[in-house]
Parts: sequence; structure tokens; C-alpha cells
Amino acid sequence: MGRGGILASDVIQMPRREEETPAMVLELVSAGLDSDFSSVRRLGAALVSRVAGDNSGSWQQRLHAVLNGRGAARSRPVELPSDSKSRTTLIEELPWPKEPLLMEEEHEVVLTRFLAEAAAADRLAQAGLGTRLNLILSGPPGTGKTLTAGYIAARLNRPFYVARLDAVVSSLLGDTAKNVRMLLDFVQGSGGVLFLDEFDAIAKQRDDARDVGELKRVVNALLQALDRLDHRCVVIAATNHPQLLDPAVWRRFPYRLDMRLPGADLRRELWSYYLDLGKAKAAEVLARISDSMSCSDIREVALAARRTSLISGEPVQLSTVVEAVVSCTSGKFILPRMGDLPAERLRDLRRKVAELHSLASGDVGALFQITRQGAEKSLKSGRQVVQHEVGSAGQSNSAAQGGRNSGRRRGTGKV
Ligand SMILES: Nc1ncnc2c1ncn2[C@@H]1O[C@H](COP(=O)(O)OP(=O)(O)OP(=O)(O)O)[C@@H](O)[C@H]1O
Ligand SMILES: [Mg+2]
Repeated sequence: MGRGGILASDVIQMPRREEETPAMVLELVSAGLDSDFSSVRRLGAALVSRVAGDNSGSWQQRLHAVLNGRGAARSRPVELPSDSKSRTTLIEELPWPKEPLLMEEEHEVVLTRFLAEAAAADRLAQAGLGTRLNLILSGPPGTGKTLTAGYIAARLNRPFYVARLDAVVSSLLGDTAKNVRMLLDFVQGSGGVLFLDEFDAIAKQRDDARDVGELKRVVNALLQALDRLDHRCVVIAATNHPQLLDPAVWRRFPYRLDMRLPGADLRRELWSYYLDLGKAKAAEVLARISDSMSCSDIREVALAARRTSLISGEPVQLSTVVEAVVSCTSGKFILPRMGDLPAERLRDLRRKVAELHSLASGDVGALFQITRQGAEKSLKSGRQVVQHEVGSAGQSNSAAQGGRNSGRRRGTGKV
């Protein structure tokens, strides 16, 4: 309850003399819901000054106490480091993510430990048990690496600093290593979480044959700078190419998350959340047929279907989602069509999905929002049509099945 309760109940008693006050309250509530604590602080402070001089001393004091006691760790503007020649900033501060992070159980275990140890960093160091709070996230695009880094910053209530590696990697000899040192020195003093995206750009193996020595300098500078960080510093690195990293880098990152494509349980949660399906069986069946999709692919397809629904004023048509899912190949998603599927296409799609994924008629019913009997009838009529088709259709179907199966990374279940 905490802050939300205090503000909500007290805001009702606020003086009405200022016309802008309701607009500020609205802004305050939406900033709170967005986890945008910089704005919450700004608006909170403005509200305190607004009631100054009013007969509301205790309200003012309580709001003061809330503002001083909580919120984002950073309370003063910070000068961000920049490249000495180009003057481009090497880091930007991003807002904490607004979307929830849905996680594999095994990742949750690592993350919970990481957050607990980061929160207890001082106590652990005093007891001689301090650790490096460095986490490396590896995996294909769209698996939630950036989201996870932002989530950690939010959970630790620290600013989220993202390194701009395009600015860090300089064409001038020697400057990249200098920039890397500046980045890490900055995080040491800032109290923020530093996120090094596309980490391989500065942490590649030092035996690269094409290198003229610059890479060695950069990696050495990185290793030394990482070693200088104190027990409270949090550095999160992400890469799509973990195999390229220098072996010495791994030792500096005791926490690791291998973010593979989501397993069946996580896919079910993602479909359920992004399509707003609750516990409906359709989410589970969608999870079964979407094993080559990343978290981000699922989000894009689901939200596109919901946008279509909002524009048309009709409920979400899961058949268009299914059509998009079966057309997705790994790394590439297709958006669901706007409008109905033609009857013949719909019948073909039901049959194809049922065959490819060995779905029972109840599953097909859940997926296409029809009864089990309706699904049975539809599948039967589909089969009759197939029997009347000449051999080539059957061949293309089995080819499709072969292609799909060979493209699968995993069966069902968690990674
Ligand atoms: N585990 C997840 N739970 C909920 N949503 C997710 C998850 N993973 C990804 N998403 C959604 O997909 C979007 C893109 O994910 P994100 O940018 O974190 O992927 P990434 O692994 O950093 O990809 P890249 O390698 O391309 O940088 C997120 O903003 C979020 O909306
Ligand atoms: Mg990313």
C-alpha cells in the first residue's frame, strides 16, 4: 500500500484554489503507475510548495517525509560522461520499463539471488563476503535482455544508465579504451545500474587476427576498470554472441543468464498477458504452436491483434493470430491480418495446425473460438476435402511438417 495509499487519501483533501492541481495529481498518478519516480518527485515537490502557507502543516510534512524517504536514488542532475573529441555522451539514462518481466523459473532463481545480494551489498562486504555485482545476459534478440536490465534498475531503485557503444567505440586509436574507463569510473560514483548492451563490441577475444592491438588495449582497460569497481556497483552486460567474448571477461561476471527462446510455460504466460486471455485454454494451445517465437515476437503479434480489435470494435480474432503464428519463422514474425479469414483458408488452417501439432479437437476449438463438436466437424470436412485433392497437396503438407519439425529447437516444457 505504502506511498500510493498516503497520496491518494491525502490528495482528496487538497485545496482547490489552484486550477492546475487536479492536472498535477493526474500527472502524478500516471507517473507513479509508469514507475517514473523522477517525475513523481518533481510533482510531489511542486505539490508541497502549492499547499505552503495553507492550514495543512501535517499533510505537507507527511508528503515531505515520503519524498525524502523514497524514490529514485538520484536526486540531483548528474553530468554524463562524453567522448572528449566528438562530445557525444557515452551514456544515457533511460526510464525504468513499464512492462512486467515474465520469467523462466530458472532465471527467476538467479535474479532473486542477484537482487538480494545487491540489496545487502554493504552488509556482505562488512562480513568479508562481498561479491562482484556483475551480470551477463546472453541470447538471441527479443528474449528480454534489455527489459531484464531495466527491471533490475527499477527493483534496486537506481537510475538506469545505458552505455552508447556507438559513441564509446571511437575511430581514434586509444580513445575507445579511454571511453571504456570513463564509463566504468562514472558508474562507480553514480550509484546507478550500468547496462553495456552489445557487450561483444568492447569485450571480444584478444586473439582476433585482424586486430592491430587496439582490441587488446580495450579489453585490458575493461578488465582493469571492472576490477576497480566497489562492492555496490552494478554492471549488466548483454550480448547476442557470447562465444565471441574474451575468456577473462567471464570471470568478472559471476551472475549469468542464458536467455534462450522462451519455453512452453513462459510462452503461455506471454500469450495470456499480451492477449489478455487470463487462464483461457487458448493461451496454452498458442504456446504449443509458437515454439520458434521470441518473447518480443509474441508481444508484437498479440498487440497487433488487439490493435485491430480496438479499431474494428470486434473481439480479438484468434484465428488471425494462429495464421500469423504458423507463418512465423524464427527471427521473423508476421503480423495478423486485419479482417476475417476466408472460409476455405480458415478450414485449411484448422486442419494444418491440428496435424502439425497433434492437437485434439478440444484444443482446436479453444484456438479458433468454436465448440469441440464444431472443431471436430470442421476437421472432418477438411479431411474429406484433402482426400479429394490430388497427391501434390498431400506432399506439400508433409514437406511443411518436415520443415517445421526440423526447425524446432525444443519440445514442450521449460528450458
Ligand atoms: N521476458 C519477457 N517478459 C515480458 N515481455 C518481454 C520479455 N522479453 C521481451 N519482452 C518484450 O519484448 C520487448 C523487447 O525485448 P528486449 O528489448 O528486452 O529484448 P533483447 O533481448 O534486449 O533484444 P536485443 O538482443 O534485440 O536487444 C520488451 O520491451 C518486451 O515488451
Ligand atoms: Mg536489447
